Amino acid sequence: MKKRVFSGIQPTGNIHIGNYLGAIRRWVATQAEFESIFCVVDLHAITIPQDPKVLKAKTREVAGLLLAAGIDPEVSTLFVQSHISAHAELAWILNCFIPVGWMRRMTQFKEKSEKQKDEVSTGLFDYPALMAADILLYNTDVVPVGEDQKQHVELTRDVAQRFNSIYGETFRIPEAEIPQTGARIMALDDPTQKMSKSEEDRGGTICLLDSPDEIRAKIMKATTDSLREVRFDEGRPGIYNLLVIYELFTGQPREEIEARFEGKGYADLKRELAEVVIEGLAPLQARYRELTADPAHIDSLLTQGADRIRPIAEKTLSLVKERIGLG
Ligand code: AMP
Ligand code: TRP
Repeated sequence: MKKRVFSGIQPTGNIHIGNYLGAIRRWVATQAEFESIFCVVDLHAITIPQDPKVLKAKTREVAGLLLAAGIDPEVSTLFVQSHISAHAELAWILNCFIPVGWMRRMTQFKEKSEKQKDEVSTGLFDYPALMAADILLYNTDVVPVGEDQKQHVELTRDVAQRFNSIYGETFRIPEAEIPQTGARIMALDDPTQKMSKSEEDRGGTICLLDSPDEIRAKIMKATTDSLREVRFDEGRPGIYNLLVIYELFTGQPREEIEARFEGKGYADLKRELAEVVIEGLAPLQARYRELTADPAHIDSLLTQGADRIRPIAEKTLSLVKERIGLG
């Protein structure tokens, strides 16, 4: 029996190379080895205000990018979260088994709610319950995500264990899979912050659909330090981040990369890195353009994806309801 993989991505902002290197690329690489399910999580997106037209367009865009990156709908299942109502229903039930204290510890909520304070939605606070529902509905074994989602997967394990201990074996306990390198790609303009989708900080973010000129400009402007030597040193976060991106796009060992830039400066690294990233993204961008020529095709793949796996979600949900005494 193949192990089951589940992961999700929000249809908000612009998908960037952090999402790609930390998550999507790994999903593609291992999709055949596992039974893989990937979800565009539109219900998570509405935890912050969204324009309806933009949300719809972004949902299709993100699905198109995943397909362009190499998610094969014949091998993996790709679907949209709101197409399977069991996600929202199980999230409600799990809510009732998650102590508020667990939620209060979530660092992502603390960060995201900082600006909005009390205006922040209850949905944003409750976001991890919905994520737990996503994962637990499909008896997931492995959840490949970037570092920022680790805490949410731990909460998922905790609530699953709690439920199982009250009602007997119901949920499979999933494990997060965080990559050794690339789990946290940092912003180019501020390497102390992770690369993020937010619209304000685009200078620090290389989006998957950026043009070669945009990529060159952002990389050449990347913040480094006043030293010269090109070396993998976590104490120098700017240059380290650029080198990690270089390493992941080229697949070269670190010693080889350091040897290549021996005696050269940061500008040389930046110039070469820009070309490596441009070349690395070119096939994805070309496939994306082909795919989006026929948006109805993407929509139909998403409908088929949801139809294929809905029975698994519904089976888990009925078991849960039966255990609790609902219905
Ligand atoms: P999100 O953009 O929050 O929907 O995230 C989708 C996936 O990308 C999740 O697995 C995140 O952990 C991952 N991710 C987001 N930002 C980064 C980053 N800067 N570096 C590495 N992985 C990331
Ligand atoms: N919360 C994740 C993020 O922002 C997206 C997500 C939603 C997810 N449901 C999931 C990831 C289930 C893994 C498994 O990145």
